[in-house]
Amino acid sequence: MNAMKPPLLDLFADAEPQQAPRCEQIGEQSCVLRGFALPWLDRLLPALESVLAAAPFRQMVTPGGFTMSVALSSCGTLGWTTDRSGYRYSRIDPQTGHPWPAMPEVFFQLAQAAAREAGFAEFVPDACLINRYIPGSKMSLHQDKNENSYAAPIVSVSLGLPAMFLFGGFERSDKSRRVPLLHGDIVVWGGVDRLRYHGVLPIKPGHHPRLGEQRINFTFRTAG
Ligand code: SIN
Ligand code: FE2
Repeated sequence: MNAMKPPLLDLFADAEPQQAPRCEQIGEQSCVLRGFALPWLDRLLPALESVLAAAPFRQMVTPGGFTMSVALSSCGTLGWTTDRSGYRYSRIDPQTGHPWPAMPEVFFQLAQAAAREAGFAEFVPDACLINRYIPGSKMSLHQDKNENSYAAPIVSVSLGLPAMFLFGGFERSDKSRRVPLLHGDIVVWGGVDRLRYHGVLPIKPGHHPRLGEQRINFTFRTAG
């Protein structure tokens, strides 16, 4: 050890190895926060139940006429839907005829905390899409571009069965990076990476002790 080093710096040097890096960088302004959602789980799951009681999962049809293998719901001021006539955000859930359920406070706080950790201090999400994957469900490469502005990041929370997330470039044909995601992981992408193509490979069969045979994903956005 360098005898000239001031004692305070030594203190930080000792503390450093115990702190796992919170942000696993997958792009210039993108990162994976491993296990970030785990301490929030006991509050997240009951809140999720009440959202789903008001806005149940449904399988939607894309404008191209394909039924998505993922079932969706939303909460927040704006919810996302697709049908033969297009993709859109709306204030009313077309299935129930009611406004989307409010975003639970714990959802909002988790999204803000994760965004802050990833370097986006001012994140105010107004939409949370909830995706339910069963084994075999997948999400093809796409860009998130139905939002009014791309200034805010996307905060994506993974729960339940593991997934292989694809994080690509700015053209669909660009090579994508494979990012394994586990229960509790959060991916944040924004800034120069905001419009990167991304997707999810088919979920492998399995049983998760807390969520059973499914993967649940939340994506928080500032849509309006
Ligand atoms: C999405 O891109 O909407 C979902 C991403 C995921 O399920 O991890
Ligand atoms: Fe997406």
